[in-house]
Amino acid sequence: MESNHSLLIEKLKQALVECKTEQELIKIKADFLGKNGSITKEFEQIKFAEDKKATGQVLNSVKNEAEELIKACKSKFEKIIEDHYFDISQPGRDIKIGTRHPITLTINDITKIFNSYGFSEVSGKEIETEFYNFEALNIPKNHPARDMHDTFYVDVNNLLRTHTSSVQIHSMLKYKAPLKIMTPGKVYRCDSDPTHSPMFHQIEGLYIDENVNFCHLKGILIQFINDYFGSNVEIRFRPSYFPFTEPSAELDIKFRGKWLEVLGCGMVHNSVLENVKISTKRFTGFAFGLGVERLAMLKYDIKDLRLFYENDMNFLRQFEGIK
Ligand code: DAH
Repeated sequence: MESNHSLLIEKLKQALVECKTEQELIKIKADFLGKNGSITKEFEQIKFAEDKKATGQVLNSVKNEAEELIKACKSKFEKIIEDHYFDISQPGRDIKIGTRHPITLTINDITKIFNSYGFSEVSGKEIETEFYNFEALNIPKNHPARDMHDTFYVDVNNLLRTHTSSVQIHSMLKYKAPLKIMTPGKVYRCDSDPTHSPMFHQIEGLYIDENVNFCHLKGILIQFINDYFGSNVEIRFRPSYFPFTEPSAELDIKFRGKWLEVLGCGMVHNSVLENVKISTKRFTGFAFGLGVERLAMLKYDIKDLRLFYENDMNFLRQFEGIK
């Protein structure tokens, strides 16, 4: 008898170890303690026992032990449910959808316009050598134009590009002429005030082909300003100096009664073409470089350039919905 009882308990323990769900536990309980359960059935033996009282007591303790074991298993399931409980009636968290940064919006706007004029987008590197950033662009060592650039040097040979003009050299060496490219990207100068940031963005344009002249340059840039701001912007070309263009000009637009400079441009200097082995007899070209922040500030009426980089959500949210 004894061993039969302990066998039943052992079987029950085994069943509980393998039990995975509450449903299974209900079945196990029925199998052992239900009306026809194997432990319940043992109670029928009392009437054949010599010492009915003692047998009854033993069976009761077996039954109690079985009940305890089943209860322990049940509370294990309840604990799992408790640990994984969440209130399905709670409202969901408000998920804010991000927006494009105004600088990204502006770059997209500008490149889309130049793309419609046939300029293909190429990308360049932000760490450059002096050759690409200066020398090949006709800015030799000790040239005063280098001072204006306030360059960040990475080490003796490498620097953070001070303008996207370096991509002109890479592109002409790689693709030769004819060529019609634009290249947006970050540039770096050791400079910081409400209208200057140590990192800012430029878009460079370069068009090299046979018979490209200053009229093409003017025509495309006037068209661009009108497409970007909408028509009726007063524009002037002002003679200027850049080592890599000849003649050079700056384009100003009239904004709130004042002339504001928005880009530099000019006919690609013969020395630059020679540096990249493009025939100056056959090809001519124009180039321009514009400041993205400057154009974004004008379009969205932003007074302090540093707002673009402070990650202030109140500022950035204002561009929600602009594509
Ligand atoms: N690289 C000049 C700057 O950062 C801008 C510039 C002027 C680019 C004239 C040009 C250009 O391509 O033709 O100030």
